Amino acid sequence: MLKTLLRVKPVEPAAHVDAGEPVEGSLQGEATLKRTLTARHLILLGMGAVIGAGIFVVTGQAAANHAGPAIMLSFVLAGLACAFAGLCYAEFAAMIPVSGSAYSYATLGEGMAWFIGWCLVLEYLFASASVAVGWSAYMISFLTTTLNLPFPDALTAAPVVWEDGQFIASGKLFNLPAVLIVAAIAGLLYVGVTQSTFVNAIIVAIKVTVICLFVGFGAMYVDPANWTPFIPENTGTFGEFGWTGVFRAASIVFFAYIGFDAVSTAAGETRDPQRNMPIGLLGSLAVCTVIYIIVCAVLTGLLPYTQLGTDKPVVTALETYAKLTWLKTWVEIGAIAGLSSVILVMMMGQTRVAYTISRDGLLPSIFGKVHAKYRTPHLSTVIVGVIAAALAGLVPLSVLGELVAMGTLLAFATVCIGILVLRRTKPDMPRSFRVPAVWFIAPAGALICLGLFAMAFAAHWLVFVLWNVLGVAIYLGYGMRHSKLNKRA
Ligand code: ALA
Repeated sequence: MLKTLLRVKPVEPAAHVDAGEPVEGSLQGEATLKRTLTARHLILLGMGAVIGAGIFVVTGQAAANHAGPAIMLSFVLAGLACAFAGLCYAEFAAMIPVSGSAYSYATLGEGMAWFIGWCLVLEYLFASASVAVGWSAYMISFLTTTLNLPFPDALTAAPVVWEDGQFIASGKLFNLPAVLIVAAIAGLLYVGVTQSTFVNAIIVAIKVTVICLFVGFGAMYVDPANWTPFIPENTGTFGEFGWTGVFRAASIVFFAYIGFDAVSTAAGETRDPQRNMPIGLLGSLAVCTVIYIIVCAVLTGLLPYTQLGTDKPVVTALETYAKLTWLKTWVEIGAIAGLSSVILVMMMGQTRVAYTISRDGLLPSIFGKVHAKYRTPHLSTVIVGVIAAALAGLVPLSVLGELVAMGTLLAFATVCIGILVLRRTKPDMPRSFRVPAVWFIAPAGALICLGLFAMAFAAHWLVFVLWNVLGVAIYLGYGMRHSKLNKRA
């Protein structure tokens, strides 16, 4: 049993993929994923995945309740954790460029690979569903208040809400807009990755333009007095302002960075991945960090931080200035577009992780089937679409929010540890990208991620444990017996 859990998949140098050859499946003549993506596509994919609810929704509460203007520092800290993990991801993805992100047998054995794959399901599947609910809120507000159109109240939210540790009937039927956006994006992913990244590029252009408008016009009304005190004094409670508040806010705004790692799930569809992957991963992270810090500076400069604790802090700040209200509609459009691309990349990441896991035999082969014409994992896309739509339509997603971050943090920590293991076990394997100062960066990345994970685990350990019990059951019931490594043994 222990031997099974620890068996590793042989790592193959991936030089042959540069010639456009598929990594797997070619010998059987099966359709495989298409290698079309370049570094530019990857940076845009990263920005599409990253800039979303984190900046448009979460920032306000984190500033108002935990960090004040020092929310900028919180973004720097969370960005640092991601940068350390991102460097390790880059080395990993450039070395073993198959779809599936941190999910890899190559380092820590089959048991751990399955566990990380299962954490990534938590990240991508639940994140796409929870962002779909955020999208729905912006859309309903845009339709009913900006356009003055009617919308049936019964179709605006899940039938239950989570309050005081229990589910209570909400009086609603289900969240129709959330279901529709998931279905539309699943349809897009079904027909092709090239089309999907094209649409993603347009969406990223819209949201970045809107953010530039906010920063450009907002900056004219910034009152530097709002930045003082920069780190408001701690209230006496851990995490409420002061330095502990800055750290607590960092663990909350970590959500805003979730998704840049999704870039690595497209490794199997990237041209010259050894070069393009590191550029895509680190480039998108750098651009997003800069954007976040500038947006936070303007946001906290426009209003005293105590007034930012709303679900739409950017809109709230604009509403305060009569001369800026015209921007409100644009920000709503930018948020709707921005959240759409987050859902797109998250769902794409989910199908690619399932594809790789199934190619290894740990999930049924249906997840690894590729459409003969579109060259996409079409059946997996349909299954993921149906589950994500059901979650988005029926489940109150406040329950799932922090689980997303927990899955991500564990996956990040494992990548940091895995890269050290590979440096030891495969020192001579070609590495087109190497993490600088790896013996500092990788352990530091793992420690920060595990620290943030521990904070969230303390609050949500039960759901997390239950999720993993389900994962272990699937592995023992299916994966262990169908693993492709059984044939090699
Ligand atoms: N980073 C993504 C967002 O902010 C999940 O919405």
